[in-house]
Amino acid sequence: MTELYPTDPIPDALLDQPGFSVPAELETRIDEVITHYPQKRSASLMLLHAIQEQFGYISKQAVKWVASKLELQPINVYELVTFYPMLQQRPVGKNHLRVCRTLSCALAGSHKLYEHLCQKLCLDPEAHGSQTTRDGQFTIEYVECLANCGTGPVMMHNEVFHERVSLDQADAILSQCK
Ligand code: FES
Repeated sequence: MTELYPTDPIPDALLDQPGFSVPAELETRIDEVITHYPQKRSASLMLLHAIQEQFGYISKQAVKWVASKLELQPINVYELVTFYPMLQQRPVGKNHLRVCRTLSCALAGSHKLYEHLCQKLCLDPEAHGSQTTRDGQFTIEYVECLANCGTGPVMMHNEVFHERVSLDQADAILSQCK
């Protein structure tokens, strides 16, 4: 019979996390969460959020661990990690800034806002993907619609929403982070 998946189908895009190990207390919590779902697979996102909360991001080893817990192939978990922007594929700074770049926010000035923040943080507004300052304090990235389209430009600082963000307000958000 042809194998449906290659032996290790996870692309190198995910970081290695040598020594990855889930603390017993977290594993107990995860085992309990799985019992809430009629099918183990349905717990995938809950497990990924729990892992991210613990480690800050989802590594290659974490994907394999979650897959094995849920009796899935790693690719089934990997595709979730790459689909959902809230799941991080690498460590992020203490202050995570996400700027919406979808149409309503773009028309309301989100590109200017992003450029302004990058300038303030000495990061490259033209760089592809997320960027983190050298001191690990800030990560900034564009994201797609944050579901507050009428009040753009919208950004998030960690888990806090900011709407109709002017450049002055962006400065205020940055100074509160320090
Ligand atoms: S377009 Fe920015 S929140 Fe929807």
